[in-house]
Order: sequence, then C-alpha cells, then structure tokens
Amino acid sequence: MERSKTKAPPRGKVIARTGELSHGKTKKFRLRCQGQTIEGLLVSYQGNLFAYVNRCRHISLSLDWVENHFFTEDNRYIICANHGATYEPTTGECIWGPCYGAFLQGVPIRVSGQKILAFCPEPSENEAY
Ligand code: FES
Repeated sequence: MERSKTKAPPRGKVIARTGELSHGKTKKFRLRCQGQTIEGLLVSYQGNLFAYVNRCRHISLSLDWVENHFFTEDNRYIICANHGATYEPTTGECIWGPCYGAFLQGVPIRVSGQKILAFCPEPSENEAY
C-alpha cells in the first residue's frame, strides 16, 4: 500500500475563543515558527478579528509598552507606544508616523468552531521572524 505524499495541513495554534474579545480589545499570543518564537496580537475591531506580528515597522520593537495596550484611547487605531506610529486595525497599514505606508506583518487566522487558530506567517524576503 502506497502512502500519500501530500503534506499534512499545518496545524494552527488555538489563541482565543470566539466572543472572547469585544471591539477595541486585543490579546497577545506566541507562535513557534521555523524554530523561533514570534509574538502576535489578535485584534477585535468592529466585529471582525485580525492578527499581526507584534513588531513595529519603524524599528523592530514591540508596539506595546503597557502590556497588551495597543489601541488609541478612542479604540480607532493601533498605535506604537515607542514613537507613535499609527496603524489601521483592519489592514495593518501605517497611516501616520515614521513608517508611513508600511504594513504590520499579518498572521493568518481561522475560526474553527469556537476556536480561533493562528498559523505561522510566511516570512518575506526582507523580514525574519
Ligand atoms: S518603534 Fe514604533 S514608531 Fe518607532
């Protein structure tokens, strides 16, 4: 009997449950990708979920100084505590600040039943984990 040569689908990591985050809330998580640990943030914005690597596009630093505090006071934008780069929650695009026009690195997520699963992002040419 011949074994299937198709690769098994990558297994995601459960990072949250559906309904866990309300609008303007975030949750940090860690993923092990290609031997390295990356920190991510799950973002709830207007009923939808988004996930990004917690690394500013200005300088490779975490966005939050206060643990898990990513949103502006009005819950409209994600903001970097270091120098104020301001990002659109739905796209990760920097719309104000020193990295204007750059994008946070996205983390693929999928909802499976009540679970929210995160998967390792594809490393791009000029980005390491
Ligand atoms: S490190 Fe984020 S704005 Fe400078």
